[in-house]
Amino acid sequence: MNLVFLGPLGAGKGTQAQLLQEREGIPQISTGDMLRQAMGEGTELGRKARVYVDRGELVPDDVMIGLIGERLREPNTRRGFILDGYPRTLGQAQALDRVLEALERSLDAVVYFQVSDKTIIHRLGGRRVCRKAAHIFHVEFHPPRIPGRCDFDGSELFQREDDKEETVRHRLEVYHRQTEPLVEFYRSRGILETINAEAEIEDVYAALREMLRARVESR
Ligand code: AP5
Repeated sequence: MNLVFLGPLGAGKGTQAQLLQEREGIPQISTGDMLRQAMGEGTELGRKARVYVDRGELVPDDVMIGLIGERLREPNTRRGFILDGYPRTLGQAQALDRVLEALERSLDAVVYFQVSDKTIIHRLGGRRVCRKAAHIFHVEFHPPRIPGRCDFDGSELFQREDDKEETVRHRLEVYHRQTEPLVEFYRSRGILETINAEAEIEDVYAALREMLRARVESR
């Protein structure tokens, strides 16, 4: 399956993409994780991105389009992928069409994670992420077995710089202005699937699996 996960920050896109990767073997391509890794390593991309990411702004389209174009050409995406956090603007969506056309591929579904702003603010305040592989936890809703340590690799859990409340509020404004219009863009193409992302993690996963099963059967 070639999938896009669309929705606001904190909707659970990363959580569900990691579950789908672990249980079904579909690779997660998270542009946020790619940027944070580059920032951590201090590469040129990382230095460019930091200015935007820490302020809660979007990294310019030309940077993101180049990054995802390269990533989609890597061999491990041939049997499918989950784009988590891309596209986020109309320009990125149009560029994605061009890349996929060149690769003679197309999207099977765009999954829209629907959730209220109130839930998002509550979720992001308690999010913790692991240093080694960006595994996602929550102090209340998905706590690690050992506080402050990742269940998978034992690395330290930390709070993302852009999860501070004032940055979250700004990221939400940016989402509503620049990314939300993509919901209608993909709905009009008949490939949008809406998931109730207010539900508990395993219930969201069950709905997602069911939706994907129905998509595969209707091919
Ligand atoms: P990115 O890392 O993509 O952040 P985001 O889209 O804002 O999404 P989040 O990671 O905040 O949320 P999520 O939906 O993955 O939720 P999660 O599963 O973690 O991007 C960061 C920045 O990078 C951007 O602001 C921008 O600057 C830049 N960037 C990235 N891509 C870009 C692009 N294409 N163009 C330009 N700039 C780009 O869940 C959140 C929390 O809730 C967790 O603690 C989790 O445990 C918990 N949780 C999840 N599901 C549930 C549930 N069902 N019930 C209760 N708790 C839950």
